[in-house]
Amino acid sequence: NVFAPPLDQYIHKYQGFWFRTTMLESIMSVHEHFTPQPTDIIICTNPKSGTTWLKALCFATFTRTRFNDFSSHPLFTKSPHDFIPWIEISANRESELPVFATHIPYTLLPKYIVELKCKIIYLSRDPKDLFISYWQFMCKLRKEAIPLETAYQYFCKGINSCGPWWDHILGSWKASLEFPEKILFMKYEDMMNDPFSYVKRIAEFMSCPFSAEEERQGLVQKIVNLCSFETLSNLEVNRNSLENSATGALKIENNSFFRKGKVGDWKNYLTAEMGAHLDQITEQKFSGSGLSFRAQD
Ligand code: A3P
Repeated sequence: NVFAPPLDQYIHKYQGFWFRTTMLESIMSVHEHFTPQPTDIIICTNPKSGTTWLKALCFATFTRTRFNDFSSHPLFTKSPHDFIPWIEISANRESELPVFATHIPYTLLPKYIVELKCKIIYLSRDPKDLFISYWQFMCKLRKEAIPLETAYQYFCKGINSCGPWWDHILGSWKASLEFPEKILFMKYEDMMNDPFSYVKRIAEFMSCPFSAEEERQGLVQKIVNLCSFETLSNLEVNRNSLENSATGALKIENNSFFRKGKVGDWKNYLTAEMGAHLDQITEQKFSGSGLSFRAQD
């Protein structure tokens, strides 16, 4: 156990990863409230990788036949977290939607999920931006300023919620190379660069590809627009709602999930040396894996 100032609590090392007490308890009991089906699709991310965005995209894409009115869509009145539950917190089968989410690293996912061969959509993000997003999120959650330097040092040592970040990424990356039909590995920066192509790709992966007719109707672009940072972050529900129903004990305000939604915001907070140091660690850890985050510098 380590007392981690950025989290203001003890975090625990379990099978190589650091977790808050509540998260570790949830991981241990995930089998009690989540019974996967082979047709399930699980969104897997490291916290602050763009999970909320991906939840919105998957929800809108998967339900587009049912919710085809993009002027009165359910995403206008509810947080994306309300539609896609976390398997480690509240997953149940009340909604017929077979899409769930988790922050549990791939290598620690319960064996039955992996063996059932549920599909996994993994979203990663440049660690510099992810770190800043995480640090800001923790400051907001704790309602106090956490020294950036302290949070940075812990992050570099891998001591953060679901860290080390590198190990979380590598587990899914390697599995995606081995089982490409079951694990779709994506980067936040690539999605930001070309959300249109990614929505099509996600639809194909979820086995609900867009028909030529749907494409002609501009449905892909409608989903991109609906789920954009600009649209979602300006909705009343995501600006002022106290909390959504799917974040469990954390009780997080919806607006905590929408900050800037930009690539490269780290430059406004980290020195060039700090950025270069994180890059160096990343290069070293990913060496020989075929994975790189350099392109987004
Ligand atoms: P920033 O803090 O850099 O702005 P998560 O959902 O995994 O907690 O990730 C939160 C991050 O995703 C935040 O990053 C947030 O602003 C960003 N985000 C939320 N919705 C988004 C959207 N629709 N498009 C792009 N980024 C989004």
